[in-house]
Amino acid sequence: MKRLYIQTYGCQMNERDSERIAHVMKSMDYCLTDRIEEADLVFLNTCSVRDKAEQKVYSALGRWRELKQKREGVVVGVGGCVAQQEGSDLLRRVPHLDLVFGTQSIPELPRMVKEVESQKKRSVVIGFQRDASYMEDVEPRVEVNGPKAMVTIMQGCNKVCSFCIVPYVRGREISRSSESIIQEIRSLVRQGVTEVVLLGQNVNSYGKTSPGELTFPQLLDKINDIEALRRIRFMTSHPQDLSVQLVEAFAKLERLCEHLHLPVQSGADAVLERMRRNYRREEYLRKIARLRACRPDIALSTDIIVGFPGETEEEFEQTLEILQEVEYDEIFAFKYSPRPHTAAAKLYRDDVCDAVKKERLEQVLRLQNELSLRKNLQKLGAVEEVLVEGPSRHRKGQLMGRTRTNRIVNFLGEDSMIGRFVSVAVVGASPNSLIAEVLSEENVSEMIDSRGIA
Ligand code: 5AD
Ligand code: SF4
Repeated sequence: MKRLYIQTYGCQMNERDSERIAHVMKSMDYCLTDRIEEADLVFLNTCSVRDKAEQKVYSALGRWRELKQKREGVVVGVGGCVAQQEGSDLLRRVPHLDLVFGTQSIPELPRMVKEVESQKKRSVVIGFQRDASYMEDVEPRVEVNGPKAMVTIMQGCNKVCSFCIVPYVRGREISRSSESIIQEIRSLVRQGVTEVVLLGQNVNSYGKTSPGELTFPQLLDKINDIEALRRIRFMTSHPQDLSVQLVEAFAKLERLCEHLHLPVQSGADAVLERMRRNYRREEYLRKIARLRACRPDIALSTDIIVGFPGETEEEFEQTLEILQEVEYDEIFAFKYSPRPHTAAAKLYRDDVCDAVKKERLEQVLRLQNELSLRKNLQKLGAVEEVLVEGPSRHRKGQLMGRTRTNRIVNFLGEDSMIGRFVSVAVVGASPNSLIAEVLSEENVSEMIDSRGIA
């Protein structure tokens, strides 16, 4: 048995891709290790969505040079967005690098690795695929890891947000067939998975480029019928494509968790227009109001970019205002960074200086901390259903799980609870998490029976 080490940067899509890499390499007898020094194959799975990741990748690869010097035959590869973007430049600039594979080339990996092992042949594969079958080569999975599983339902993006590199590094939108998605989820559920996170750059447009395919709300409907599955989540949605049917799904589907990540990016119409987001502040707010009318307890999260080219103090204030108005449960905020190929990088000068971007980012985070803390304090005394994921990262000796609204909850419990649902009472709150005491495991099944989910 040979060993594979993967370092993953970036989002859930990339985490899922790393799982797929591990899965395809199993066919060549590679198993995962978290100790790089014992690995025969080392991969860097990269992301270039938000910052100048190229530099980070070149320095990480620089540090890996000595791995090859220490152990003969170690194979080094780079995948993901930076691989897609840099292609053969990476091989040219990094002599100890063997493989460069793009975001849609994971099924090619066994062949590429074999060629390095047997012929010392270095290679670059970064083509885009035309149909979705390449995703089927590596899905369905043979093994699961815990109660929660990510399921890729589509790849790529057909939007033209002016700041975003995704359409250039992840290609045009393609959707997997609904049949194979459902088959995969059924198989995951048989192996004990109780929560699925459906992944895609803009899941709301699922199926649009495949004639005769289900729409996203129809797909959710089908998944909601899978018995023994308890929770459905999805990431990410573009507000323009948030249809009435999808909003209604939140009222109708009992397994669909009451949480939506709906990136707004900015609260100012002029900035949204320069970002080519195709909605105005008022339209966005109307959609939020409709969602809340359908599911009053829905938790909302969002992405914010500060310091987009030309963002004035007044425009930035409007972003602070929208945070106050919506009262998100959680936000992810970033300083604008011009990305290669994008319209914003070509059309606009990056004219908000870094000190101002930094100050704006801090202001946004400060405000959100207050808002999140206020929301979490309102939860004191509440009884919540928590799916226990594992040991808490920040509180030694405690367990961590999530509510249906995706809030992190830390509590004292037995390891035997991992992977199960428990009922907890909230006894403390911070901006980013809740502290709770376990009531019982049985209560949850009763709670769930009474909602008709079990
Ligand atoms: N600069 C800063 N943030 C960005 N994002 C995407 N592109 C950029 C960029 N060029 C952020 C957006 C998006 C999230 C995934 O990353 O907020 O929603
Ligand atoms: Fe990027 Fe816009 Fe597509 Fe999201 S919807 S991945 S921000 S281009």
